[in-house]
Amino acid sequence: MSIYTDEVMNMDRELIPAHVAIILDGNGRWAKKRHMPRNFGHKAGADTLETICDDAWELGVKYLTVYAFSTENWKRSVEEVKGIMTILRNYLINAIERANKNNMRVRVIGERSRLDDDIRTAIERLEAATENNTGLQFNIALNYGGRDDVTRAVRGLAEKAARGEIRPEDITEQMISDSLDTAGMPDPDLLIRTSGEIRISNFMPWQISYSEFYFCDTLWPDFNKDELAKAIIYYAKRDRRYGGVK
Ligand code: FPP
Repeated sequence: MSIYTDEVMNMDRELIPAHVAIILDGNGRWAKKRHMPRNFGHKAGADTLETICDDAWELGVKYLTVYAFSTENWKRSVEEVKGIMTILRNYLINAIERANKNNMRVRVIGERSRLDDDIRTAIERLEAATENNTGLQFNIALNYGGRDDVTRAVRGLAEKAARGEIRPEDITEQMISDSLDTAGMPDPDLLIRTSGEIRISNFMPWQISYSEFYFCDTLWPDFNKDELAKAIIYYAKRDRRYGGVK
């Protein structure tokens, strides 16, 4: 253990963010530094992701949501997209066994119709096989875009209104939240982005309205438990007022 991890383990549990969201960034640069192809970095990034799930739970985090593939990531080269999908397929092969061993529930957020059939089927099996697990609630954002999430939610509500099931004037913020891919989950308390970029890139814009943001220079494959602990310590020192005065 190290000083940051120790500090978090000794912290009042109420100060630990229940929901941590992470924008995984820097895989490509990590690979480039090693004169390796970008997909080498993505593979290392996927390995880090597996470890971080265990670390997050040990530190007291209940929900972890990661941005693995955005609606914009299809613009990358065919080779890179294919490589990421291969990594995802390999991850999905043992995912049920690993998740059940750790009592972890896995869900995927995002628009699935663009994913290949075998990947979609594996995701459905993983979600069904882990739905009663009460450990870390792990969400993987795949073909996810925050605006797309809101658009689909609004479309659903508009359809209900058109059928006369609800009245437009009765639509509340809660109803919109309940129509998003993250329905039923608490909003993220802490959003982390690695690799020195300071932007949100369309990741859950509705849900992060009151989140604390933590940016670090570490490239995603190098991120570890102690880095996560450091982010949690930063979060614990924030004074969240939600627009009010304390
Ligand atoms: C960001 O780094 C990373 C991605 C867009 C892809 C992340 C994908 C994985 C970790 C694999 C998915 C697998 C599982 C198991 C869910 P970047 O490529 O933008 O890095 P750069 O900014 O340095 O180029």
